[in-house]
Amino acid sequence: MKTDITIKKVKLTPRMRVIAELVEKHACEGMTLIDVGCDHGYIPIYCVQSGFVEHAIAVDIRPGPMMRARENVARFKLEDKIELLLSDGLDKIERVARNIVVIAGMGGYEIRDILARRRVVLCGGALSSGEDLERLDERQAEHSEIYVIGAQKSIPLLLEFFNENGYKILEQTQVNDRGKEYSFYVVAV
Ligand SMILES: C[S@@+](CC[C@H](N)C(=O)[O-])C[C@H]1O[C@@H](n2cnc3c(N)ncnc32)[C@H](O)[C@@H]1O
Repeated sequence: MKTDITIKKVKLTPRMRVIAELVEKHACEGMTLIDVGCDHGYIPIYCVQSGFVEHAIAVDIRPGPMMRARENVARFKLEDKIELLLSDGLDKIERVARNIVVIAGMGGYEIRDILARRRVVLCGGALSSGEDLERLDERQAEHSEIYVIGAQKSIPLLLEFFNENGYKILEQTQVNDRGKEYSFYVVAV
């Protein structure tokens, strides 16, 4: 009897599919996908399986979801392409140009805090003087990252944060998934 060794593609919900489509649209060749709050790991698995990115880092703050993501990555045989990292937000990830970062399925306050810490790390913790802000602009140009943001709530707070901190909105879209409306922003900084 013939054995079917084809590895099936992971299935996404309509909301998660929109996230993956935004990654497909905005990722350039050689970019690494970083999925912050990966939970089950389905988004990086789908994006790597589909060839939207070659490599991904699946990040979660809690060991339980991390273990679930690890099992799924192994189930789809992607251990050589998807790294798993236990981290609070992006705190353990070096900022390099060519990152496309997904932060979805969290509240606006949590996302704002993750982004704000990324910004402070970048300019050595000092944001107040004009000199530091100039340096920040130079360094950001060298290390620009793209973010796909899908907040569950507190979206006006996030938009204010983008506006006050020089984030450029590249795209905004929404999807209705099982009766609930979800908004997404693709931003660059
Ligand atoms: C509701 S799930 C969303 C999963 C997936 N991103 C999605 O959109 O379907 C939220 C996940 O974010 C993780 N999380 C919450 N705060 C985090 C943080 N500061 N850093 C990393 N992961 C975080 C949680 O542990 C949980 O697994």
